[in-house]
Amino acid sequence: MKILAACGNDCSVCPRYTSLPYEKTGEELQHTAELWMKIGYRDHVVTNDEIACSGCRPENRCRYRVIKCCAEKGIKTCAACPAYPCETMRECFAVTRSFEPKCREVCSDAEYEILKRAFFEKEQNLLIEQAISYISELFRSNAGGHDTEHTLRVRRNAMMIAETESGCDREITELAALLHDADDHKLFHTENNRNARTFLEGRIDADRIERICACINSVSFSRNRGKIPETLEGRIVQDADRLDAMGAVGIARTFAYGGEHGRPLRESVQHFHDKLLLLKDEMNTETAKQLAAKRHAFLEAFLSELDEEMIDL
Ligand code: NI
Repeated sequence: MKILAACGNDCSVCPRYTSLPYEKTGEELQHTAELWMKIGYRDHVVTNDEIACSGCRPENRCRYRVIKCCAEKGIKTCAACPAYPCETMRECFAVTRSFEPKCREVCSDAEYEILKRAFFEKEQNLLIEQAISYISELFRSNAGGHDTEHTLRVRRNAMMIAETESGCDREITELAALLHDADDHKLFHTENNRNARTFLEGRIDADRIERICACINSVSFSRNRGKIPETLEGRIVQDADRLDAMGAVGIARTFAYGGEHGRPLRESVQHFHDKLLLLKDEMNTETAKQLAAKRHAFLEAFLSELDEEMIDL
C-alpha cells in the first residue's frame, strides 16, 4: 500500500525510503545516490547516510514547509487542507514536473517508473486521499457490508489486479474502485452517478469523469448479468468488487447484510447459491481468476460445514 508524505509523494516506492519493512542494502542506496546525481537532484554522489530517508519529519528541511504547515493545521496531508491547492503547492507540483523530462531522458524505464510513482504522481495521490475522505463521509452510517472498508478492499483488489494488466489507466481504475458504490441503488436514490460526479467535477477532465462513470456502471452484479465491461478498467473494478463478495469476507458481508435487513439465517445462505458461488466463473482477469479459486474453495468448505451443523426443517 502507498505511504503518503504530506505533499503526496509515495514513500513506499521511493528508492530512498528505509523505514521498516522498506530497508535498502548499501548497494541499493548507492545506486539511488548515483541516480540522484544523474537526474540533477544532487550535484554530487552523496553518502548512503545522506540519501537514506525514514520519511518526513517536522525537523527535516522542506523547501515548501509542507510538513510544518500540515502539522500546524493538524492534518496528515495537503489533501485535507481547505486551501488545497495553495500557491505553495502549485509551485511544488510545477518544480517536480520540471524534473520529469530529464528523468525520462537519462533513466532506464524501470528507474523512471519508480520516480514517477514516488514523486510525479503527487496530485493523483492527493486526489485519491480526497476521494477516500469523500466516501468515508458518504458511508458514515452504513454497516451492512457496503461501507468504507468494503470500498477500500475493492480499491486494494483493483490495484493488485491493475499491476498485472498492462495498458491499464491506474487513476481511472482507482477512482472508479473508490466511487463504485457511491450511487449504489440499495443505498442512495441518486440519478446519473450524482454522488460520484459531485466529487469528480472540477477535479479532473470531463472525458475522464465519463470514463470513470462508465466503469462504475459496469460493476453492479444485478444490473450487468452476463455482460463483460467494455474497458479494461471496468473489467478490473468488476473483478475487484466481486472478489470482495467471496471468501471469508464475502461470508461476513452476507450475514451482516442479512442481519441488517432482518433476514433469517437460511435466507442469507440462499444468497450463496444465487450469487456468491457463481462469481468464480465470471471473473475477467487472470489474477482475479486465481484469487477467486481460493475464495470459492473457502465458500464451499464453509457451506459444507454449515450443512453439517444446521438441522433439517
Ligand atoms: Ni461494491
